Amino acid sequence: MFPAVRMRRLRTLKLIKETRLSTDDLILPLFIDENIAGKMPIESMPGQYRFSIERAVKEVSEARSLGIKSVLLFGIPTKKDETGSEAFNKEGVIQRAVRVIKKAAEDIVVITDLCLCEYTTHGHCGLIENGIVLNDPTLEVLGKVAVSQAEAGADIVAPSGMMDGMVKAIRNSLDTEGFADTAIMSYAAKYNSALYGPFRDAADSGFMFGDRSGYQMDFHNAREALREVELDIAEGADIVMVKPAIFYLDIIAKVRAKFDVPLAAYNVSGEYSMIKAASEKEFLNGEEVMIECLTAIKRAGADLIITYFAKEAAEILSTGAPSK
Ligand code: PBG
Ligand code: ZN
Repeated sequence: MFPAVRMRRLRTLKLIKETRLSTDDLILPLFIDENIAGKMPIESMPGQYRFSIERAVKEVSEARSLGIKSVLLFGIPTKKDETGSEAFNKEGVIQRAVRVIKKAAEDIVVITDLCLCEYTTHGHCGLIENGIVLNDPTLEVLGKVAVSQAEAGADIVAPSGMMDGMVKAIRNSLDTEGFADTAIMSYAAKYNSALYGPFRDAADSGFMFGDRSGYQMDFHNAREALREVELDIAEGADIVMVKPAIFYLDIIAKVRAKFDVPLAAYNVSGEYSMIKAASEKEFLNGEEVMIECLTAIKRAGADLIITYFAKEAAEILSTGAPSK
């Protein structure tokens, strides 16, 4: 007798979906540039732009009307210096942007990137001495940046510099200054990845010397990611993140299996640009690959997906087009 179970029966009905991608899962990253008016296309990321503060408000309200609940803001300042002091200027690009965005759309969850690399002349994520990124002195600055972002109205701060002890330092600063309700989404397991190339273009955060291997994770390591996540949870992270996403689905799955905290995954610029470029060349169907990619990240165990595809995916999801 042929086995009684035939897997095809249900498959043809397309009834069972273990994973459902929803617009609620998506966080849209936005680059806000103090040096421009209107919007400026990012060459290495087709379909993505840098926005002026004014124009960013419009972009956020468009995203909101598509059902996107949250944005992640990166700032490109007019002034950079050795120590990234513009990052905690009350009138800095991000602080001003958060204030106007929150005023225009109260119900949007505003997440601010919390790092120094867009604000330092050397482009590294921390303070430098003799060509080395200093961990502990950087923590003090991160605390100040966090407070200034919370003061401006950020709901969540997202430290992305992979400094040891950053979550604890930021939690302490926020609590001391009366921002106990501001959440922390930590880039807990952030790998030193070549997939960030287009972003550095977009955020003008490329570094002048060396690389980020002194603080970002080695992509050969998986167990180390679990230690990073464990530490950040102990330090008070509300959400932990794995980054990049598609090349790191194993890490997402491992973190999901081991910890019960909310988990975000960052579908990074290189992952976006590869799909866009191949789609422009008609090597593949960009929309289908996009939905498959985002669904895979969710299936691996992410609760939230930070993705440049957010608006495009939201449009497709809202038309109820079957995702196959
Ligand atoms: C900087 C930062 C980077 C990204 C987010 N924050 C780049 C880097 O670490 O060099 C990458 C995002 C992307 O590639 O989409 N702290
Ligand atoms: Zn950085």
